[in-house]
Amino acid sequence: MEKIRVYGGQRVNGSVQISGAKNSALPLLTASILSEEGLTLRNVPPLSDVSTMLSLLETLGVECSVSSNKDYSETVICKTDSINNFTAPYAIVKKMRASILVLGPLLARYGHCSVSLPGGCAIGVRPIDLHLKGLKAMGAQVDLRDGYVYAEAKSGLKGAEFEFPISTVTGTENLLMAAVMADGETVLKNAAREPEIVDLANCLIKMGAKIEGQGTSEIRVVGVPRLHRAEHSVLVDRIEAGTYAIAAAITKGQVDLIGGDFRKLLPTFIEKMEECSLIFEDIPNGLRAKYAGEIRPIDFRTAPFPDFPTDLQAQTMALLCLASGRSVIDETVWENRFMHVAELARMGANISVSGSQATVHGVDHLVGAPVMATDLRASFSLVLAGLAAEGDTVVDRVYHLDRGYCFAEKKLADCGVRVDRIK
Ligand code: EPU
Repeated sequence: MEKIRVYGGQRVNGSVQISGAKNSALPLLTASILSEEGLTLRNVPPLSDVSTMLSLLETLGVECSVSSNKDYSETVICKTDSINNFTAPYAIVKKMRASILVLGPLLARYGHCSVSLPGGCAIGVRPIDLHLKGLKAMGAQVDLRDGYVYAEAKSGLKGAEFEFPISTVTGTENLLMAAVMADGETVLKNAAREPEIVDLANCLIKMGAKIEGQGTSEIRVVGVPRLHRAEHSVLVDRIEAGTYAIAAAITKGQVDLIGGDFRKLLPTFIEKMEECSLIFEDIPNGLRAKYAGEIRPIDFRTAPFPDFPTDLQAQTMALLCLASGRSVIDETVWENRFMHVAELARMGANISVSGSQATVHGVDHLVGAPVMATDLRASFSLVLAGLAAEGDTVVDRVYHLDRGYCFAEKKLADCGVRVDRIK
């Protein structure tokens, strides 16, 4: 298993090209299923989760051709006129829960499919009951047998009104994709408002879908008989940008985040970082994040967009370990997303957890140690802690990191700091 050695006591000073968002690329790839004319996606991040999605699409009969570009991105051309398998197998779904995103598109285009139930996950139970409830509201018959969801809509899906009791990102994406070719109008209430959903809707509109209200809590879709070929560039990854901003803060350095409107994509995170330790300056095509001279403790609560993203909680916690006082973090999205606490503690952090709240008592310094990545975002929080620590840190199980951060060593080198991968 590969590891990353992080040399402590380094300072970030440089510029980083932010890649396309994993959580946009995955639903966009499954959106290709909706049209027999295929889809071309640009700015796709070369990540292991993207490779897993490509394997799943290929299992269904989609032909995917991938070419690498100079700017850390890939272009993926999905040819979708020979789909001949309608089952997403357990072997792939267990590796990546976002595989569930084939459910809406397969049902919309073919009227039947089966998708393995994803099973447990390190950060929470992660049920898909709301995806299924919404599809049932649109007339699908849904059965659970042998660990699989069997869904059928023999005479096609019907437009419906569905209100999500809680905000779900992939749930909204699945129903949005199911609705674009349904008969009549679908209204999704209390829909998730994440920028990645807007990106998906914009791509579907390029493919001929009739959608309004994306980015608000009410999305309206009028079904059309078919979608057509389109080209789309994947939205920039706000979580990767936030992670590198924290790298600047924790190392008392500075970084230029290149490639997007990060003020719009990370409103609450930026506000909290300004309160804590960073000054932001607008630069052409990006944002500069500069250490403000101290790391002040902050309290925050994770919640759906536009609030503080849960996907930046672990990285922010690493920073707060070195704050000049006590911070309180309330994790309201996932019930078990504090696995990094025990690893940070191995580096000298002082954190106590009670239910959904973590109280971080800032310490003077962290000390390098061998630590283990427990999930994707936790993995980078340990790298960040390692950059600021005294001595070296070796992060094990970096396959978690490779799911969502491409070219991490190269990008960190672009920021002026060195980490080495140990094969
Ligand atoms: N939930 C239900 N029932 C459902 C669906 C969700 O109870 O049918 C609950 C979940 O258990 C959770 C909450 O609703 O407590 C929110 O879950 P959501 O469905 O929004 O999460 P997701 O769509 O499975 C996406 C991202 C995650 C990110 C969350 C929250 C993708 C592929 N994944 O997951 O990304 O944490 O939204 O923003 O878009 C990551 O990138 O590290 C990651 C975990």
